[in-house]
Amino acid sequence: MKIAIIGTGNVGTALGSNWKKSNHEIIYGSRSPQDEKNIELEKFAQVLTLSQAAMLGDVIVLATPWQSTEEAINEMGSTLDAKIVIDATNPLKPDLSGLLLYGDNSGGEQIAKWASKSKVVKALNSAFAKVMEQPEINGVKSMMLIAGDDLSVLHTVAELVDDLGFQSQKMNGIRNSRLLEMVGLTLITLGYKEGLGYEIGLSILKNKK
Ligand SMILES: NC(=O)c1ccc[n+]([C@@H]2O[C@H](COP(=O)([O-])OP(=O)(O)OC[C@H]3O[C@@H](n4cnc5c(N)ncnc54)[C@H](OP(=O)(O)O)[C@@H]3O)[C@@H](O)[C@H]2O)c1
Repeated sequence: MKIAIIGTGNVGTALGSNWKKSNHEIIYGSRSPQDEKNIELEKFAQVLTLSQAAMLGDVIVLATPWQSTEEAINEMGSTLDAKIVIDATNPLKPDLSGLLLYGDNSGGEQIAKWASKSKVVKALNSAFAKVMEQPEINGVKSMMLIAGDDLSVLHTVAELVDDLGFQSQKMNGIRNSRLLEMVGLTLITLGYKEGLGYEIGLSILKNKK
């Protein structure tokens, strides 16, 4: 699949290098595609402008800081129409003490409004970038929650998430972004404030009986 990743930071780099191992085609969308800092990415991906990347991608992944995401969506404009958009952002307060949107709203729902002609799925916000490089920890796949309104789109995104090496868990409804973003914040709190570090993952245990 052609995956356009918007943002070339920690998350964008981890996802692109991992998906490349499953033979997906990676196209990065960058504000400065010619910058020499993109040399490492160009070894396995194209680095283009945001709109060029979005035009080529079957799936678009938003891996931008929350505060820049509306601007990035606006810049891509109609190139996002009818595309699957994976929202990997977390609407974090700058000091990581909480979420800017919570309760009866969420970043995922807000993005679904900004990109109203796209099929938005919340996913890949509830693991550290380090774990996105290698989601298996101590022989167990980290779980990745994904939420969206369209079941067939959720299925496609689940397959992409599984290709990374996660154990995907679908949740029906973009409204569940409210829960996923709280899970993201919980991991950040455990990692940074409780000292568990960045190589931690989620798991749900289910009795098979
Ligand atoms: N880091 C994690 O472990 C982690 C885990 C899960 C979710 N997340 C979420 O994922 C998102 C990205 O996190 P990150 O750690 O990868 O951030 P990061 O390392 O700071 O990278 C952010 C990227 O976004 C780009 N960017 C900023 N403003 C932009 C704009 N207006 N248009 C296009 N690109 C823009 C930056 O480009 P320039 O190089 O041009 O500045 C940079 O490449 C955040 O929302 C974060 O909450 C992070």
